[in-house]
Amino acid sequence: MERLQKIMARAGVASRRKSEEMIVAGRVTVNNELITELGFQVKKGDEVKVDGVPITKESPVYYLFYKPKNVLSAVRDDRDRPVVTDFFQFETRRIYPVGRLDFDTTGVLLLTNDGDLTQELTHPKHEIDKTYIATLSALPSEEGLKQLERGVVIDGKKTRPATVEVISINKVKQKAVVSLTIHEGWNHQVKKMFEAIGCPVNALKREKLAFLTLKGLTHPGDYRQLSAYEVQQLKQLSSKK
Ligand code: URA
Repeated sequence: MERLQKIMARAGVASRRKSEEMIVAGRVTVNNELITELGFQVKKGDEVKVDGVPITKESPVYYLFYKPKNVLSAVRDDRDRPVVTDFFQFETRRIYPVGRLDFDTTGVLLLTNDGDLTQELTHPKHEIDKTYIATLSALPSEEGLKQLERGVVIDGKKTRPATVEVISINKVKQKAVVSLTIHEGWNHQVKKMFEAIGCPVNALKREKLAFLTLKGLTHPGDYRQLSAYEVQQLKQLSSKK
């Protein structure tokens, strides 16, 4: 017996959290009976349907994607903007992005149909390192950079200690490029952190997610599948408490 949301996540329907929302919304039946209860236990041989369509277990797949600018980290958009899965139209499995990058942010994004891994990787307790390269339209002060390292308050919460590295400074143009490694994944976190020290972000690129980099992905829109070893490493990272 297994919990309904876990079965759905494993089948690649959505992450466990999203699957829970689908259950509560009344979109899921087990043996043709509507289930809206989250802890519902599914037995072997039970038939689970989402929106009337039976779910079947898909083989897991993991893509590392170089997200371009002006693409939404989603599988569809009500406003018809380009979404990351547009780049994977050949893929018949139900992949979706693990976490989100802003519409105008570029860089490393994972896409998968593995709901369990998605749930683990995006859970705050795992504190997966994420490194961003920010182009700033003002010069950060020494004190400002130290504040970023120690933690700044955004939306009433203090960020965890971060790693900051100045990559370049242009005093004439009053511009700087700074690398920032954070562990959380709050909404617009990097932009808000730089805003908190008076430096608006002009362009943002995620260069690294855990040990995964853009190496081998030369252009925005490029992707590759993760190796079995990389998948194993990710699973190990996310199983650590
Ligand atoms: N922080 C941001 O501000 N934007 C992103 O896309 C990712 C992290």
